[in-house]
Amino acid sequence: MRLSQIISKFPRFLKAAAALSGTVLLSGCFWLDGPQSTFDPNGPVARRQMDLFYTTCWVSLFIFVVVGAVLAYAMIKFRAKGEADEHAEPPEQAHGNPIVEISLIGASVLALVIIAIPTLSGIWYSYDVPSQDKADAYEITATGYQWWFKFDYPGETAQTLDPTGKIINAPFSTANELVIPAGRPVRIALRTVDVIHSFWIPKLAGKVDMMPNRGNHLWLKSDNPGYYWGQCAEFCGESHAVMRFRVIALGPKEFNDWVNAQVAPARKVASADQTQAKAQFAEYRTFRRNEAGYTSAFDASPLDAWRAKQVPPVTGENPALIQKGRELFSQKTCASCHTIRGDGYIGVVGPELTHVGARSTIAAGLLENNRDQLHRWIHAPNEVKPGNTMWVAGYLANGIKLTPEDEDALVNYLQSLK
Ligand code: CUA
Repeated sequence: MRLSQIISKFPRFLKAAAALSGTVLLSGCFWLDGPQSTFDPNGPVARRQMDLFYTTCWVSLFIFVVVGAVLAYAMIKFRAKGEADEHAEPPEQAHGNPIVEISLIGASVLALVIIAIPTLSGIWYSYDVPSQDKADAYEITATGYQWWFKFDYPGETAQTLDPTGKIINAPFSTANELVIPAGRPVRIALRTVDVIHSFWIPKLAGKVDMMPNRGNHLWLKSDNPGYYWGQCAEFCGESHAVMRFRVIALGPKEFNDWVNAQVAPARKVASADQTQAKAQFAEYRTFRRNEAGYTSAFDASPLDAWRAKQVPPVTGENPALIQKGRELFSQKTCASCHTIRGDGYIGVVGPELTHVGARSTIAAGLLENNRDQLHRWIHAPNEVKPGNTMWVAGYLANGIKLTPEDEDALVNYLQSLK
């Protein structure tokens, strides 16, 4: 029988399935480099995880093809060939063939061993920084909250004011944007203050759970400076899907500059003769569900957008409006949950905001950090992230109202915090 004859015997859905999977595989080669793709690793841990995936995939594919081929052969060779066959008695039943059975057991064990060796070595490799690199490792602590991430830098100390107004040194933290040195191993301690979260940066490393009352950790390395997406990978409540973060990997000098900028207390805008921003609350848009929270320009080069956020604007800041926002931050009880070092605010329930104006995103990596998105976030946080603390326990739950003028002052204040 010719091959074309055999193929013509296959039911039509088999041909359709083959065509579909071929298309998916081919398209995968071109489209699998999205921001949360594990097929585009940018560091040794993610690369090892992908290699293991491919090993498992090829072994499984080999088994599938061999078993499928034998099955197809048997189906074609022993099919009913005519009227007589269809009413024939079943062939004589026999017990198994010891050689075939032992060979199958041996093949199964071999397949498991082929998968187990790289799996075990991968588990050991990704568990902790390799011992020869330990001395060079940079330490960070990541803590999961419903629904955002806090990042502490225990090796750095920041300037802050004590209650008497004296400058003291204290650890600093940031939120939702993990800034790391590129080309250096980074060891991240994983904690949670509430439920189980899972820490995952698809292009660098993960997933490792953040467990209540248990210390976990992982390590990663970014080969080059870059901008990566992170995501909580364990269901943790109604806004789990929007519990994201961003990772910014920087070269040694740029990373050092960033740390120096972070340890400084909050920026103050001098009332010099600058071009002052007009109040622009009338221009803000309301939030529409499922709308992308960032512009296409930001999406195209987020690292450049992040760099641009580090530099204070030369013009367009309104010191009086910013000062009003600074006062409202306390009057409207924002300060009970947020720390702004240097402005006397020491809340710890929500993210530290000392340099929030220098982040490229807000609302746990969900929205681009610009005036419009920040206004939406302050104006209707529950539209952006259902169930968040500002809504269930913060100023909205306590019936505190913000007028458009208040919101505009707060936006100007927070954007000034470079
Ligand atoms: Cu945190 Cu899902």
